[in-house]
Amino acid sequence: MTAKLIDGVALSRQIREDLGQRAQVLATQGRRPGLAVILVGDDPASAVYVRNKVKACEAHGLHSVFEKYDGGLTEADLLERIRALNADPSIHGILVQMPLPRHIDPHRVIQTIDVHKDVDGFSTLSAGELMSGLPGFRPCTPYGCMKLIESTGVDIRGKHAVVIGRSNTVGKPMALLLLQASATVTVCHSATPDLGLHTRQADILVAAVGRRHTVMREMVKPGAVVIDVGINRNEEGKLQGDVDFEDVREVAGWITPVPGGVGPMTITMLLVNTVEAAERSLLST
Ligand code: GUN
Repeated sequence: MTAKLIDGVALSRQIREDLGQRAQVLATQGRRPGLAVILVGDDPASAVYVRNKVKACEAHGLHSVFEKYDGGLTEADLLERIRALNADPSIHGILVQMPLPRHIDPHRVIQTIDVHKDVDGFSTLSAGELMSGLPGFRPCTPYGCMKLIESTGVDIRGKHAVVIGRSNTVGKPMALLLLQASATVTVCHSATPDLGLHTRQADILVAAVGRRHTVMREMVKPGAVVIDVGINRNEEGKLQGDVDFEDVREVAGWITPVPGGVGPMTITMLLVNTVEAAERSLLST
């Protein structure tokens, strides 16, 4: 068997078309969706991510504000900026790019963002909403993974889903989203002794480890849906996921490529959350 490819670029394009229309409708109601992106310091990878987020906003009719501060910005000044953006009616989403310089507590920063503008879905309130099955913002990467799984047409209900990774930003919310969709969920992590024992049971396998070639062919159930969240570089600098793509595609039923799978969906779901934040702000006034 050769797996069908789950095309994150095509799915992103489809979702973004719909978003552009929703943004236009909101603009005619005087509520053009607005995203504020804050970058502190000079991390080159963060600068690229942030630029792509701002560019995506501009391409789809969203208003964006980009604020860049040098690495010496105090935590108090950053919190003050966030409070000002919380009060700004033209801003519906606030994203503070991580990682932050060491003298700034990321938890305090995230908790200062108004939950109605927490389009990253990282705050404890947003996490609690997800945990409780309440409406709220879902973290963009696992939210995008759900859309990729749904796009295959495979019914998630009653399936065995295995998530590798337990981060607050991907693994844990991913497991909760799959559980909410009525999958039976196993979460594996760095202390799991026999990873393959679990992954071989998976009808749906999500790898969010950050180490290439973690998932090999003999660890995958024939026909499984395989979602690769990893973004790693090999010795030649080539992008590779956590899954040994060429090997695993021979047994899986569906698989995401790297690049072109999960990556484009993360920014797309940020736009989705921002448009939704603007729509909700219209309902609450
Ligand atoms: N750094 C890497 N990914 C992310 C993300 O999704 N959101 C934020 N705020 N920072 C990041």
